[in-house]
Amino acid sequence: MTQPKVLVARRIFPEVVARLREHFEVDWYDENEPLSPEQLRRRLAGKQGVFASGTEQITAELLDACPDLRAVCLMTVGYNNVDLAACSARGVKVSNAPDVLTETTADFGFALMMAAARRISESEHFLRRGDWQQWRVDLFAGADIHGSTLGILGMGRIGQAIAKRGALGFGMQVIYHNRSRLAPEQEAPLGARWVSKDELLAQADHLILVLPYTPESHHIIAAPELALMKRTATLTNIARGGVVDEDALAQALGEGRLAAAGLDVFEGEPQINPRLLALNNVVLTPHIASASVPTRRAMCNLAADNLIAALTGGEMVTGLNG
Ligand code: DGY
Repeated sequence: MTQPKVLVARRIFPEVVARLREHFEVDWYDENEPLSPEQLRRRLAGKQGVFASGTEQITAELLDACPDLRAVCLMTVGYNNVDLAACSARGVKVSNAPDVLTETTADFGFALMMAAARRISESEHFLRRGDWQQWRVDLFAGADIHGSTLGILGMGRIGQAIAKRGALGFGMQVIYHNRSRLAPEQEAPLGARWVSKDELLAQADHLILVLPYTPESHHIIAAPELALMKRTATLTNIARGGVVDEDALAQALGEGRLAAAGLDVFEGEPQINPRLLALNNVVLTPHIASASVPTRRAMCNLAADNLIAALTGGEMVTGLNG
């Protein structure tokens, strides 16, 4: 019996590819440089499945050019790079990789927020440049985390994991804004309070963005929203770059209308807005919030489980469209 053909569209753990080879004829693009849309189209022709990430654009045009495709399995939780409606309309199953990265991503979001508030990158650069001459009372004095107000925009799994760290670990007051409110029994242990978006912006000492990127959330934080925030506040983004208007953010940071920011995601990544690069009060990291070794392995294995299920008559573990 001929095996289904699948494309693994990036460099991943070899043992996960070995698992896939037990079920499929695998074409492994074993590179870190993403495939161009044209390369992806050519490599996907005649394949039934693809193991992908957040960097491959799965568009209606691509699906039309690859009519054999039956399953798109992402190793990422974000799936804004996939036209889900177009996949569903063509009977292509899609899965993402939630849950396995929740705690690791929350750890990193918290670390980035703390780094911004306590000026860790900025002070390290200062020290490495040899600029440290003497201890000073105000040297890199930043904002406190403990006892402050944590604002969370997007209260899904990762938002809740961050709330838990803030409330239970650091004694923070947790406020959040989300389309739907948590159930009272979810709010109570965290002391979490739903507030309007404007209240969230005005009250948070540390605002963290963990919402999905959709047409509605594009630039959800722009100049008018930044103007509502405290001058002493920090903003951390571990969602997607497109949720923030980076020029407006750079302007606010540069003018001291916002104390600091921590950004793991960027609108044109891996290109970074030069206005952000020019600022000291922003901590910049290369989209690594879920990047612990065990979690990246778990993300890959979950995508492989989904691909195997989708193409062998099973049920995907974390399917997005059936
Ligand atoms: C995700 O899983 O969506 C992370 O942001 C990595 O892309």
